[in-house]
Amino acid sequence: MRKVTIPGGVFYNGDCISGSSQIPDNSVDLIITDPPYGIEGDKLHRHYNRDESFVTDGYVEIPAEEYENFSMNWIAQAERILRPGGSIYIVSGYTNLLYILNALHHTRLEEVNHIIWKYNFGVFTSRKFVSSHYHILYYTKPGGIRTFNTECRVALSEKDEHGGSLNYQDREDVWIINREYKPGRVKNKNELPFALLSRIIQYSSNEGDLVCDLFLGGFSTARTAIGLSRNVIGFEISSGMFDTRIQEMTNLVPGSLLNTIRTPLEPERKLTRKTWTDDEINSLRTRYQELSGTRLTEKEINSKLQEELGRGYWSIEKALKKTGIKPGRR
Ligand SMILES: C[S@@+](CC[C@H](N)C(=O)[O-])C[C@H]1O[C@@H](n2cnc3c(N)ncnc32)[C@H](O)[C@@H]1O
Repeated sequence: MRKVTIPGGVFYNGDCISGSSQIPDNSVDLIITDPPYGIEGDKLHRHYNRDESFVTDGYVEIPAEEYENFSMNWIAQAERILRPGGSIYIVSGYTNLLYILNALHHTRLEEVNHIIWKYNFGVFTSRKFVSSHYHILYYTKPGGIRTFNTECRVALSEKDEHGGSLNYQDREDVWIINREYKPGRVKNKNELPFALLSRIIQYSSNEGDLVCDLFLGGFSTARTAIGLSRNVIGFEISSGMFDTRIQEMTNLVPGSLLNTIRTPLEPERKLTRKTWTDDEINSLRTRYQELSGTRLTEKEINSKLQEELGRGYWSIEKALKKTGIKPGRR
């Protein structure tokens, strides 16, 4: 199988089911993948009425009658390579969702969320509702700590103009994200948007983690992940698609997209400089004793108290001394 290595990525031009034998067990932190749809996707442009000259040739479709077995086989490999605690996100349309869910059911992977992605340019219909969503199945492999960076994009303290939590909104399981329209530029028929991929990558991995895409298509997952300083391994069976896209990938600088993503605004902490009242000192003592019974370190307890009381590090240290609790002997 042809292998191409670039900074941050290793890519194979071949079948991911046999090819994933190249990847050791339990070695991948995050899998994001968008398997072929099994609905004659190589003719999708007919439904979408797009100008085919801008669509990269060579999308390899899976015949409908093979979809069930095909799903079982690649999902078994995905389970094997994922590390315990690792996450997998699978994008699926409705038609073959049943087979993907069934294949997941045959593994030890556990569901975390069933996300709905609502996009623009749905399949036009006249005598029923327009289909304009995909399913994103977010599962994890049990036995390890799952990465979920709750405040990677929006701080818990950030609010909209009506006082609603922006962090809550960013973590809802219905995502409204438009497909990217790139007039006149070569694209894959079903390229996933950067906004969707960066959200998954930010929440479910850290810089330096290994991200895998078993069905690279236009390499959108790989491009986003390398751009965000993750390492990537992936497969694409179509030589036409692989050759066109690998060319573009060689120009990608790892980490070059880090300055384009949403990051949390630091919570604005208003420190009070008032002297401590006796009541405040007493509540500090009680709260300190509660936190000492947890697994937090002294430093973490101090940060928590800073957050809760709006005081600085030294102010808390001094007030703790007044309670009779001596720094360094705690
Ligand atoms: C839905 S597309 C992926 C689109 C991709 N997420 C993107 O954003 O461009 C599925 C891709 O899987 C490829 N494919 C089909 N069977 C495959 C297999 N057995 N191994 C690897 N790639 C395969 C197809 O050629 C197609 O490019």
